[in-house]
Amino acid sequence: MNTITLIEKLWQDTVLAKEEYVYLIRNCSMEDRELLAARANEVRQSYYGKDVYVRGLIEFTNYCRNNCYYCGIRAENKNADRYRLSAEEILECVEEGYTLGFRTFVLQGGEDFSYSTEDIGSLIAEIKKRHNDCAVTLSLGERERDVYQYWYDCGADRYLLRHETASKEHYEKLHPQNLSFGHRIKCLYNLKEIGYQTGAGFMVGSPFQTAEHLAADLLFLKELQPHMAGIGPFIAQKDSPFAGYVDGTLEQTLLMLSLVRLTLPRVLLPSTTALGTIHPQGRELGILAGANVVMPNLSPVSVREKYQLYDNKICTGEESAQCRQCLDKRMESIGYHIVTARGDFANVSR
Ligand code: 5AD
Ligand code: FES
Repeated sequence: MNTITLIEKLWQDTVLAKEEYVYLIRNCSMEDRELLAARANEVRQSYYGKDVYVRGLIEFTNYCRNNCYYCGIRAENKNADRYRLSAEEILECVEEGYTLGFRTFVLQGGEDFSYSTEDIGSLIAEIKKRHNDCAVTLSLGERERDVYQYWYDCGADRYLLRHETASKEHYEKLHPQNLSFGHRIKCLYNLKEIGYQTGAGFMVGSPFQTAEHLAADLLFLKELQPHMAGIGPFIAQKDSPFAGYVDGTLEQTLLMLSLVRLTLPRVLLPSTTALGTIHPQGRELGILAGANVVMPNLSPVSVREKYQLYDNKICTGEESAQCRQCLDKRMESIGYHIVTARGDFANVSR
């Protein structure tokens, strides 16, 4: 096998065999990474040009019933300073975001059942009633199919649920026993069947991860065909069981972003806050490696510090308007521009 031949093959066929992905993940040189990023960029530009879509992220609760070993808002973390935003507070964030030009709102939180299914449903309906030109994205973890269906019927357009790792045996090393790999995957297929634009994804450099696991992630994405993929480096959180584990690297995250772009040419692919956290130009480099979405924080500044999935998260002290301007400038600095369109997958909207 040869890296350059494999890169060209992936560029043309949009898929490789598992051992070919493994070989690329293990053996890419600096020059190979540059070639991969250039090919990924070319593919992205053929569908989306130099447009970067922006999503307003509202982290409305950091309560969570789960205990994922990597995550800072896990239920057992007694040091997490917990908060919940009321419906009114969430709607204020939406109004501010709308004024700043956001046309997608991502409601994200831990698995917090103190908001009922109906509470969330009314919130979705209210946002859609006020702004029918906006998309509502949910990121609320695993729920039963009928709940996903109900929220879809209330007007939710998209759902983000990272699969975290496509290998059952690896999944079980990242999560306690009560969390089931099978259920998570089932949730993703349910979301797609219901009609959501669906996002899966994984961390790069999570504990115990191998090149084979990453190759399995790419093949899983190829099979699921999600509309969105969230890929960011693992960053150790000091109060979690994975405190002290080594963080994922910039280089490997960029490599995986390029491989995802080439595997799913039209995917909406964020350059994540986690990537911006491990390197000052991480988000710009992510765009240059094939990403085409940024998700600045719209949560009130008073709670931002508290939504700490990992340590040293950036932008926690910035006002939403500052983040918007900062990202505009960052994207312009590399010749890209943020657009305020809803930014649906391949221009489909309901
Ligand atoms: N480092 C990086 N990403 C993390 N996430 C959770 N904890 C961490 C961490 N320590 C990611 C998970 C989750 C998403 C919301 O954040 O992939 O799905
Ligand atoms: Fe928040 Fe730059 S994006 S300050």
